[in-house]
Amino acid sequence: EYIQWYPGHMAKANREIKEKLKLIDVVIEVVDARLPLSSKNPEINQYTWNKQHILLLNKADLADPDVSQDWIDWFKKNTDIQEIMLYDAFDRRHKTELVKQIQRLNVKNKAQLKCMICGIPNVGKSTVINSLIGKKKTQVGNKPGVTKGQQWLSTPDKLMLLDTPGILWPKFEDPLVGLHLAWLGSIKDTIYEKENIAADLLKYLVAYYPDELEVLYKITLDDKNLPEVFDAIAKSRGLLLRAGEYDYTRTSVLLLNDFKNGRIGRITLERP
Ligand code: G4P
Repeated sequence: EYIQWYPGHMAKANREIKEKLKLIDVVIEVVDARLPLSSKNPEINQYTWNKQHILLLNKADLADPDVSQDWIDWFKKNTDIQEIMLYDAFDRRHKTELVKQIQRLNVKNKAQLKCMICGIPNVGKSTVINSLIGKKKTQVGNKPGVTKGQQWLSTPDKLMLLDTPGILWPKFEDPLVGLHLAWLGSIKDTIYEKENIAADLLKYLVAYYPDELEVLYKITLDDKNLPEVFDAIAKSRGLLLRAGEYDYTRTSVLLLNDFKNGRIGRITLERP
């Protein structure tokens, strides 16, 4: 099944990004370290060839560190992106390092570099913006097509940052990639039902991370089939609708959240 992902929005978002990029010195592209290639929209390259380009493999705290290192090597070898960083948007040292790298790319010695954050939904763009401007939590505008005037934020490190990130759309033909993006929350639940997404996730985890499941949910997998594993998790967490009837919706949400927040383990979904 091929999913054509919001073609109208995609075209509009691309036009907007192209327009904004005219003003930009440094493009900071954010991808999810657990799915570095599939969470990257290749079309960005059309717009960045004449810019300084930094790639953040964000949420590295949730990804398998060995595979992350392989990805860093892969991007260095296979792209001409100036700077590639493993990143945790909540780690102040990473932010300090990012600012240093941005300033290193200031080859024309401009007084203020103009920067823009880009990426597909839910990879952490707003979190990166907030960390750079030094605010705890502001609602950063995150929808393409919101036609308010463009705002520049100046950061304590003398960078100029666009207040809204450039939204890229995930581009994929492989349904498995679509599923991975759904597990990360980059494709919203209207496309795939939550319970189906969770069932597919559970199947993957049972196959590759059985020990982690057993430890986290205090269950034994033995040779349970998938529905039985689902029941065991619901039972272990007391997620009942009524006596003897498990609440599959809440169990699905639990599983997806535990995965998203790294509680099942540091899991990377694709390898170079
Ligand atoms: P976006 O603008 O690209 O759409 O992403 P946003 O910053 O809103 O971040 C999406 C979620 O990812 C947020 O969680 C945020 O806290 C989390 N996040 C961002 N960067 C990192 C990181 O480096 N490490 C970890 N562990 N988490 C990060 P949320 O508000 O709980 O949303 P959700 O994931 O529950 O949907």
